[in-house]
Amino acid sequence: GIMYVTFGTFKLRLRKGVSEYGKCSETHRRADQRRRRPGMNAAIRAVVRTAMKNSIECVGIRRGWAGLIAGDICPMNSGSVSRIINRGGTVLYTARSDEFRTPEGQKKAANTCKLLGLDGIVAIGGDGTFRGAQDLSRFGVSVVGVPGTIDNDIVCTDYTIGFDTAANTAVECIDRLRDTMQSHERCSVVEVMGRHAGYLALYVGVAVGATAVLVPEHQYDFEKHVAEKIRAARLGGKTNFMIVVAEGAASAMDVGKEIKEHLGLDPRVTILGHIQRGGSPTAKDRVLATRMGYEAVRVLAEGMTNRVICVRDDQIVNVDIDEGLAMKKTLNAEEFEVMTVMTGV
Ligand code: F6P
Repeated sequence: GIMYVTFGTFKLRLRKGVSEYGKCSETHRRADQRRRRPGMNAAIRAVVRTAMKNSIECVGIRRGWAGLIAGDICPMNSGSVSRIINRGGTVLYTARSDEFRTPEGQKKAANTCKLLGLDGIVAIGGDGTFRGAQDLSRFGVSVVGVPGTIDNDIVCTDYTIGFDTAANTAVECIDRLRDTMQSHERCSVVEVMGRHAGYLALYVGVAVGATAVLVPEHQYDFEKHVAEKIRAARLGGKTNFMIVVAEGAASAMDVGKEIKEHLGLDPRVTILGHIQRGGSPTAKDRVLATRMGYEAVRVLAEGMTNRVICVRDDQIVNVDIDEGLAMKKTLNAEEFEVMTVMTGV
């Protein structure tokens, strides 16, 4: 995801590296709520609660980098993150910021940090968020990134927060579609999110037993990727077909038209769209977000900066943002091979 940022910031009150478990029982009004990327609230909660336990004062920055430029902050404490672990979206809102892409905007944001005396920022988001974090750290601000995007396209981590929930939502929707497609013996073309990355489409395609899966990493070829698969499935006795298309691979509407024109079927097209970005996060996303939020505070409190929190082989680790973003992420070859074998049957 590009330029969506949502993050909590915090002010270190103790010497770096010192942790002292303090109590915070004060309750606070709950912040406003908007739905985006399931699991972000769990990460915000973990950041705030870990900071409080270490007597680190926290403020939330609303509306991402745009909010940092504008000084759009809200106090955060244990009470303000109560009862949000199960909620989709982010209580801190999120926004794109063209201004933050400019050095002037970054300077303004750095000035906000100075004015407020912020010692570190936890930035939760995708690729655009991390590029912003890199820019800001050049102005001397300590930043740690927590990966949150349903696209799962952050190179250095096995999983990003929100992916599991989005995948399960898409699977549930497609299972419903399948019921009616089976009854009517029809072909369904379903578009899932992923403008630049096919992880979600591939994962969901395997989970629903798709007839074909289209990903942006591979140049779309109707005959090879769709027609041959549908033909093989039909020859094998199938009379209903489920085509999963990542939004960046091809337009589902166009794929539907081609199927009608070249194969004489009468497909139905469904675009799942932003439904995939909402809803109560799965247990996996909640736990991942909580572990990552905890680690982000620990890393900043130890005086590190310009790091991304990652999960690798189920271990939470941190890597340099520059190195992490420079790595090239490719689709899981084994998963792709499995999908290839399972489709068209
Ligand atoms: O959250 C990431 C993502 O789903 C991308 O796959 C997609 O390109 C983008 O969001 C679309 O976001 P929006 O419609 O809000 O511009």
